[in-house]
Amino acid sequence: MTIQPRREIARVVRRRASQLRRVSDHVRPTPPVDRVVDDAADYWTGRDADPAWEGNAHWRSGLGEEHWRTVGAEHLAIFDMFAKALDLPATPGVVVEWGCGGGANAVAFAPTAQEFIAVDVSADSIAECVRQLGMVCDTPVTPLQVDIRHPEYAADGREESCDTFICLYVVEVLPSVEDVKRILRVAERMLRPGGIAFVQMKYHTADWRPRAYKRDYARSLSTMTTFGIDEFWSLTAECGLTPRLVTLVPENHLDTRYAYYALTKDAG
Ligand SMILES: C[S@@+](CC[C@H](N)C(=O)[O-])C[C@H]1O[C@@H](n2cnc3c(N)ncnc32)[C@H](O)[C@@H]1O
Repeated sequence: MTIQPRREIARVVRRRASQLRRVSDHVRPTPPVDRVVDDAADYWTGRDADPAWEGNAHWRSGLGEEHWRTVGAEHLAIFDMFAKALDLPATPGVVVEWGCGGGANAVAFAPTAQEFIAVDVSADSIAECVRQLGMVCDTPVTPLQVDIRHPEYAADGREESCDTFICLYVVEVLPSVEDVKRILRVAERMLRPGGIAFVQMKYHTADWRPRAYKRDYARSLSTMTTFGIDEFWSLTAECGLTPRLVTLVPENHLDTRYAYYALTKDAG
């Protein structure tokens, strides 16, 4: 047998194994949500356990300079489009970023912000975000580590104190729809009336493959919790925010099937 057919056989075997794994992920019973929450907490606070961690947490060192810069630049462009369409102030005021990671969005949003609140479950990521911000602007930064099991604590004493709440590349890594709802409710509490939440989620389509399944957090973290586009629109309203605009990015430099929502808190 020549080398070429051997390589072809190996490629087919790998593809079939991956298809089988995906099918098995969908047919086996899902683990209890508590276990997925434990896995998520262990993953994001255990920086040294996975060589891909800095990439998954969107650190400059993990994504590489070009991808890291593009994340913030693309998000700011979508946000500016929403802000213009909704006739919002030209600058974002007090900004809270939920799940700031290594600061890719922070360096784009903070320079024109009045204050930047960097929220994450990972103390390492918050420190890295603050470090990156220190290199680009002197906007006051408030680091805020949250307990994955008690996101509500982050809003205590900060009710109606923020103008802009951003949450990007985070919804998909949350363990369950209930976790997403809790964070949207936190956004509603933290925002001033008239404030905006800018939230991204990974959408699923009629194709079953990108749908969420809960097995092996580290292997499938970017598809933990996905939604139908209309489903997420309704869910945000259930959590007290008013969905105003949505735009889709079927594919970008990192992944596929992203929907961005502009959600406002009613002025009362
Ligand atoms: C894929 S990174 C995205 C980082 C950043 N938002 C970006 O767009 O570059 C996901 C981040 O969400 C954080 N995270 C995961 N679960 C979270 C939770 N329940 N609450 C807050 N942050 C969370 C992780 O620690 C990680 O920093």
